[in-house]
Amino acid sequence: MKTKILKISPKKIDLDKIKIAVEVIKKGNLVAFPTETVYGLGANALNEEAVAKIFQAKGRPLNDPLIVHIADIKELNRLSKYTPPVALKLAKKFWPGPLTLVLKKSELVSDIITAGLDTVAIRMPDDNIALSLIREAQTPIVAPSANLFGRTSPTNAQHVADDLDGKIEMIIDGGKTKVGVESTVLDITTEPVRVLRAGGISVEQLKEVISKVKIGEELERGLRSPGMLNSHYSPQARLILVEEKGEAQVEEVYKLAFKYKAQGFKIGIMAKEENQDKYNGFPVKIIGKGSELKICAANLFAVLRSFDKEGFEIIIAEGLEEQDLGLAIMERLRKAAARK
Ligand code: TXA
Ligand code: MG
Repeated sequence: MKTKILKISPKKIDLDKIKIAVEVIKKGNLVAFPTETVYGLGANALNEEAVAKIFQAKGRPLNDPLIVHIADIKELNRLSKYTPPVALKLAKKFWPGPLTLVLKKSELVSDIITAGLDTVAIRMPDDNIALSLIREAQTPIVAPSANLFGRTSPTNAQHVADDLDGKIEMIIDGGKTKVGVESTVLDITTEPVRVLRAGGISVEQLKEVISKVKIGEELERGLRSPGMLNSHYSPQARLILVEEKGEAQVEEVYKLAFKYKAQGFKIGIMAKEENQDKYNGFPVKIIGKGSELKICAANLFAVLRSFDKEGFEIIIAEGLEEQDLGLAIMERLRKAAARK
């Protein structure tokens, strides 16, 4: 299959172009599109055959459920069995935006989307291209991140093409995504509510709206096997995460860099801007200033992918502060590091 690239400016949405993408969705085929977090691989949520194509294209196991994307808060009533007040409270505060709510599903939501669970994950993306696509298609759109299963999520159209060219009908190129890490997945079927995946809305932000938030792993509910969890967000290079702080971190990174270079590996360092001059003689890529976690999140996946493009075998990554978006960044780096 020849993958078509459709360029759309996020500043001025060309509805005629959106309609070309809508036709693809209506025919039951796949369109990758930008959201504020990462690119998604979209299909008509109400067409099971179309949804099945997502799992095929990504090489994603069928027991990993998908997020349903909506453009109107009223859709919550159609897709969930009932909408608890906390859902409306959170949606009003954070939608459109990088928060996914897990609620009891309605009959309308097929088992292939939820992997047989009785819950469904729903979010309203904060991106005009994504919102226009959903509105014009007049249907909710399911979309996982538009990468091959287990790989780092795409934050621009080229990343999508690198993974899925020839496997999907269309990619909408709307430029670079602004948040850079995926949405926060929040299970609101439990009391207290539980963060299943840290993401673009921080726990600190959630706590401004609901006093009690638990941070837990999907693992507790047996949603995933540990192996699958570990293979997430992985660059092809082996990633070593150095979690020490301050000077101890720099020393440890330097030590590891020497060690693996001596063993003949092509190694690179992912460092904070303030440390960029501390690794003399080693290739360094900057994620951002340690104090600017939003910028670090926006850069994370592109930096990891650029190491792969240049054939690095080992990435030694400096850890970041685990607050605000730093929690989402560290969750992803730990999973990437746990791969081997
Ligand atoms: O930012 C995002 O969320 C992006 C963009 C494209 O919207 N999408 C995304 O989708 O990251 P994906 O498929 O890569 O990740 C979806 C996550 C998975 O961790 C999945 O296990 C979880 O959401 N999930 C989906 N449905 C669930 C459910 N019913 N219960 C618990 N977790 C669920
Ligand atoms: Mg993903």
